[in-house]
Amino acid sequence: MTTMEQSRGVGAAVGRDVTRVDARDKVRGTAPYAFEQVVRDRVHLVAVQSTVARGRVTAVDSAAAEALDGVLRVLTPFNAPRLADTSDAEYAVLQSPGVAFRGQIVGGVVATTSEVARHAAELVRVEYDVHDHDTRLREDDPDLYTPEQVNPSYPSDTEQGAVERALAEAAGSVDERYSTPMEHNNPLEPHACIARWEADPQGPRLTLHDSTQGAHGVARTLAKVFGLPVERVRVISPYVGGGFGSKGLPHAHNVLAGLAAQALPGRSVALALTRQQMFALVGYRTPTIQRLRIGADGDGRITALVHEAVEQTSRIKEFAEQTTVGSRSMYAAAARRTAHRLAALDVPVPSWMRAPGEAPGMFGLEAAMDELAEACGIDPVELRIRNDPPTDPETGKPWSGRHLVECLRTGAERFGWSRRGAPGSRRDGDWLVGMGVAASTYPGYVMPGSAARVRHDGQGRYSVHIGAADIGTGSWTALTQVAADGLGLPLDRVHLEIGDTDLPMATTEGGSSGMASHGSAVLEACRRFRLEHGEDPEPGAATESTAADHPEADEYSPHSYGAQFVEVRVDGDTGEVRVPRMVGVFSCGRIVNPRTARSQFMGGMVWGLSMALFEASEVDHRFGHVMNHDLADYHVPSHADVVDIDVSWLDEQDYRLDPLGVRGIGEIGITGTAAAVTSAVYNATGVRVRDLPVTPDTLVSRGVRPRP
Ligand code: MOS
Repeated sequence: MTTMEQSRGVGAAVGRDVTRVDARDKVRGTAPYAFEQVVRDRVHLVAVQSTVARGRVTAVDSAAAEALDGVLRVLTPFNAPRLADTSDAEYAVLQSPGVAFRGQIVGGVVATTSEVARHAAELVRVEYDVHDHDTRLREDDPDLYTPEQVNPSYPSDTEQGAVERALAEAAGSVDERYSTPMEHNNPLEPHACIARWEADPQGPRLTLHDSTQGAHGVARTLAKVFGLPVERVRVISPYVGGGFGSKGLPHAHNVLAGLAAQALPGRSVALALTRQQMFALVGYRTPTIQRLRIGADGDGRITALVHEAVEQTSRIKEFAEQTTVGSRSMYAAAARRTAHRLAALDVPVPSWMRAPGEAPGMFGLEAAMDELAEACGIDPVELRIRNDPPTDPETGKPWSGRHLVECLRTGAERFGWSRRGAPGSRRDGDWLVGMGVAASTYPGYVMPGSAARVRHDGQGRYSVHIGAADIGTGSWTALTQVAADGLGLPLDRVHLEIGDTDLPMATTEGGSSGMASHGSAVLEACRRFRLEHGEDPEPGAATESTAADHPEADEYSPHSYGAQFVEVRVDGDTGEVRVPRMVGVFSCGRIVNPRTARSQFMGGMVWGLSMALFEASEVDHRFGHVMNHDLADYHVPSHADVVDIDVSWLDEQDYRLDPLGVRGIGEIGITGTAAAVTSAVYNATGVRVRDLPVTPDTLVSRGVRPRP
């Protein structure tokens, strides 16, 4: 332990490879997920979805559904309870007959069993006035517009310096278009909730067991939508089977469950979306069309960098993904321009999906960097090192900790980058072999406002309470480690409780901000507890506090970095791409638990591999729906696709951002990865693929062949 760590009260648990405290419960099936919660008077709700992409519901015939034994209620736009706030159209469920995308909720059936509810939902006949729709993203769409800001609150466009002149004078340059398809979050646990509406003397109360990344956020939103005081809405969410952003906000199904519960007070209304339904109702990543223009001088120093993105949103609610923000601070360049243009289409509402912005945007930037390296005749690792900015080029602020160069050098060494040859020069039988590299980045976010409570339960045992989520990342374990060190106790003396709005307020587990935000709150509560109650407190002694202010954070630009190296083998006959080896080296501040952290980085890299080679939601534009809306046809990697992933990180603490020294690890692993894969495919075959995913068809049609 360093002196700095000791002075900050960090003890033996943080940094240790601790097995998950919830592992046994999960393996035994005793960790209750939302849909498994034991509730009284359980009934089942199934959503009825629009079969047209745009229009109006003119009539609903629910007679056949209602005639089934066990059907309790059929909700329609014409009979559903009225909501208090319909300003957010995604949540204005069944409040009007309008249809804004195919798959939108136009009804709901409640029955005593899920089978009857599902059967009845199929018997509901909905008639529509059908209007023309447009679901196709086009770069030349005349209705493209500039959003006021992009997610979460960045300016849409930025410009510094004389971009066009610098590009015109560049010694080496790139001007290319890259595209990424619509992609869907597919957490293993589908979105599910159980809603109960109860009248009591103080007015109605809504309880929701939900699979969410932020119980408090769901409660706030539903309270507004239903016109309830927030303290009358309780959300419980102790275990979540993956979220990836799709559970970062409530979605229409939560409102539908609330409406059904309101219509059937006292019943527990259970709703689990099917995998197919998730493709219309819980968000997705917008497709992107990106134009990158980069110019460099004769030494490969970037003089101008332009990153412009075209993306889609729904006509009823804007979500503007921040595709180009990674390019704003990634490399030194005196002249820079970034921009976002949106098309509002008759499509489901896009939303957060793991590393929104950086995931597609770093594909464009890093793929272009690979091409710039070639244009300048410089090794792609060296090109990135030469353009590493000493301070944030956008804000001028010093970095809280920028160690990209070290990640690149360490990764190159671990991977054996020096063995890379010229494009198309390495073969192994009919396999074409290549190596690629790309950089990763993700901002360090701390969300203000989380609180935690510490209580001495007696006999040296302590409870630590915070309404945070564990979406599978390991927060149960990592927060327990932070609390143990904060209190100076062995791990088994600390009992953590999370995932409930009855616990102190926690921000949503998103933007890789969980540990920095919730860990800091836990740490502060533990310190204050010791200050107030000492080392030998009375049973029942308790302290609650919010995370300490950390004003110095504003003086720095906090970003995490990584370097990813990939080897590919391309079958010269079929164009099949195999990825036998990936190396990722990351710099993310302190690592609280190497075991769960490794899983986070590896999961991100696997998702990046998936983005490179497999994932694409294919829309049938005649009807406006995703055709491959299940895990048979929406391809993700299986074990056979993931071979040797070498994950490591730099030994680092970043106390500039937060008192724990962490910068967040959840999303960085997916950023840049796909560009490392396409860079390796180019090195193997000499074919540049700029449109994801890289498919066998593309490679074969572009002339990839075995040696004659
Ligand atoms: Mo993540 S897409 O910030 O939940």
